[in-house]
Amino acid sequence: MRDAELSGYPTGWFVACFSSDLPPRGVKPLQYFGQHLVAFRGEDGQARILDAFCPHLGAHLGHGGTVVGDTVRCPFHAWQFDGGGRCTVIPYAQKIPPRATVRPWPVREINGVVLIHHDRAGNEPRFEVPVIPEYGSDEWLPWSTTSYRVKTHPREIVDNLADRAHFSSVHRTEIDEFSFGVEGHLAWQKVKGRASFPGGVDAFSSTTTYHGPGYLLMRMDGLLQNYMLVAHTPIDEGTLDLRLAVTLKIVGNRARTEGYVAGYLSNLKAGFEDDLRIWEHKTYMDPPALCDGDGPIGRLRRWYRQFYASPAPATEEDAARAAE
Ligand code: FES
Ligand SMILES: [Fe+2]
Repeated sequence: MRDAELSGYPTGWFVACFSSDLPPRGVKPLQYFGQHLVAFRGEDGQARILDAFCPHLGAHLGHGGTVVGDTVRCPFHAWQFDGGGRCTVIPYAQKIPPRATVRPWPVREINGVVLIHHDRAGNEPRFEVPVIPEYGSDEWLPWSTTSYRVKTHPREIVDNLADRAHFSSVHRTEIDEFSFGVEGHLAWQKVKGRASFPGGVDAFSSTTTYHGPGYLLMRMDGLLQNYMLVAHTPIDEGTLDLRLAVTLKIVGNRARTEGYVAGYLSNLKAGFEDDLRIWEHKTYMDPPALCDGDGPIGRLRRWYRQFYASPAPATEEDAARAAE
């Protein structure tokens, strides 16, 4: 094990919650990246995330805080904070002190999930998560979702993408074709195979892509056309929330497709629970003893390390150029 290289939390977009978990004017306490946070949805419908503790006397804005306009109001002395973390109202003061601010986090809401950006160096996001063109259309169902709290490090979840050999032993799935690639913040796996399930065998082809370190989308064509979202968000260095969501294309009538979803999601859950049993008890081998039938685990790990690298400090050359 060489833990030091993957210590702390990676840089990228992570799912903070499903959109449906944050209703209009909703306030929700969150705990991610070793920190306490608060998410709230203003009256304008926009989701926002701030550090949780009020700079006044430290109340947690997510426990008893309320939405007023597009601000969250502290439950203790009713100071209000906007999405930029600025205090806009103190009901009993003439002047708002300059230190009355909380840290705002970059937020996006895409494909029915609220995303938060964590950056090791405090920089702005350098990439975005893609919009699923089919999401929200009449021909596709809304997400069916589930989530797990898992005692593991994110690297274990990510390793799975290149782990060709575990399909057969863990997931009872035979792989006929497997390819893998990385480019910038993307890593993908393309698979053609056959999955065994209680009622028979399903031939499928899938493309599975990590968009940064914590957001994975799989597009699968087989018996059912579907997208699967697998997102993991670190709580602390040994615990994470794993969220799973699936949407199917409606075939024939809607009610029948809705009927498929429950069975389909429970199949997927069973597959994940097979992985979970391994993840929660394993150790991280670095370097691992790999054989010729294993997938490109080394390439994937090199790709993943980029999200733990803080930007290199500016060189003297950069400084000279900036001064010109
Ligand atoms: S602690 Fe939040 S307003 Fe006083
Ligand atoms: Fe797996």
